[in-house]
Amino acid sequence: MFKKVKNNVYWVGKIDWELEWFHGHDYSINRGSSQNAYLIREEKTVLVDTVWAPHKNEFVDNLKKEIDLKEIDYIIAQHGEVDHSGSLEAIVSEIPDVPIYCTANCVKSLVGQYHHPEWNFHVVKTGDELDIGNGKKLKFIEMRMLHWPDSMATFMTGDNILFSMDVFGQHYAVEEMFDDKANNCDMWSEAMKYFANIIHTFAPMCKMKMAELDKMNLPIELIAPSHGAIWRSQIPEIIQAYKDWSDNYQEDQITVIYDTMWDGTKKLAHRIAQTIKKESPDSVVKIYNISQFDKNDIMTEVFKSKAIAVGSPTVAQNMLSSVGGWMEFLKECRFKGKKAGVFGCYGWSGEACDILRKNLTESGFDVIETQAKCNWNPDEENFEAADELAKDLVAACK
Ligand code: FEO
Repeated sequence: MFKKVKNNVYWVGKIDWELEWFHGHDYSINRGSSQNAYLIREEKTVLVDTVWAPHKNEFVDNLKKEIDLKEIDYIIAQHGEVDHSGSLEAIVSEIPDVPIYCTANCVKSLVGQYHHPEWNFHVVKTGDELDIGNGKKLKFIEMRMLHWPDSMATFMTGDNILFSMDVFGQHYAVEEMFDDKANNCDMWSEAMKYFANIIHTFAPMCKMKMAELDKMNLPIELIAPSHGAIWRSQIPEIIQAYKDWSDNYQEDQITVIYDTMWDGTKKLAHRIAQTIKKESPDSVVKIYNISQFDKNDIMTEVFKSKAIAVGSPTVAQNMLSSVGGWMEFLKECRFKGKKAGVFGCYGWSGEACDILRKNLTESGFDVIETQAKCNWNPDEENFEAADELAKDLVAACK
C-alpha cells in the first residue's frame, strides 16, 4: 500500500509487526520494525530501496497495484544489506535494464550476495546528482561505515527530504509513519537502542559525518530513514542526539551486570548496587542478570552509563559463558570514557575477576583496581569488599 510522504513521494515499504530478531539473533525486536522503501513520482519515477526477501512478493504485488514496473526509471540502492536489497532480484528480473544507482562498495555487496554482475549499476559518490525532473534532483552522500562501507544517503531537492538509510532509524513498527504521530517514548527509546547496538561501533565516523552534514547546510524538511518513523517535527533534535551519542555519551547512571550460579554473585551484585545508591543518591542505579534480561537492552543501559560493575562466578577457570558471550558483544560496541569494576564468587581457582578485568580493559573501559572477589558464599567481610568496590567506582566517576 502506498502512503503519501510528501507531494509525489510515497512510502512503499513493509511494516513488520511480527519481527522478533534482526541480524540473525543478534538484535532483539520488541516493538516490531519496518523496512522503509520509497517511490518518487516526478518526471522520472524512482524507487529508493526495497524490503527484505520474505516480503518480496507482497512488495512487488503492492507496487504493481499502483504502477507498471516498467515506469521505474531508476533504482537507488542505498545499502546492500538484505533488509533493504532483498527484493531487488524480484524487481530487476522484470525490468533488467533499469539503472541502479549505488556506491562502488554497494556494487560489491550486491554482486557478492545476488551474483548479477550484469545489472546496470551506476556508481555514485558524495556530491553526484541525478536529475528527476520538475526541477528536482537527488544528491548522493556516502555514509561510509554508517553502518556498512557501502551505505549512503540521498537528499531530494525541492521537497528537501533526506533519505538517510539506517542512520536515524529505529526498529519500531509505526503505522502512523511520522515522528509527531508516533509514541515518542517508544520511538526515542528504539532510536537510542539502534544507535547503541548498531551505530555506536562507528561513533567517530558518525561524529565526522554529522559535522559534514552541518557543512552541507541542507534545508532538510523530512528525514526518511530505512527503519521506523519518518522525522518531520524533531529534525534538529535527532541530529543533535546523534552528535551527542557519538561523542562518548554518558548519563548519571551506574549499571551492575552479572550472572550467577548459586546466587553468591547475585548477592554481591545487589550489595554493590545498594552501596552505589547510598554513595551517589542522585545517580540512576540499575541491576541486570544477563541470562534473564534482553542483552541488547542491557547494552543500551551500558551506553547510558558512566560506570558499570560486571560480575561472574568462576566456572572451569573461566567466567560463565553467558557473561563471556555478552563481553564479546560489549567489545564490538567500542564504548569509551566509562569506568568499570569487577566482582564474583568462586569455589576453587577464582579466575573470573581477572578475566573480566582483561576483557573490560580490551573493550575500552577504565577498570578500577578494587574488586569484590569472594570465596564461596559472601560473608560480612565480602560484603564490605563489595562496599569498597561500589565506593571506589563512584569516586572514580567524579
Ligand atoms: Fe537496515 Fe544495515 O540494514
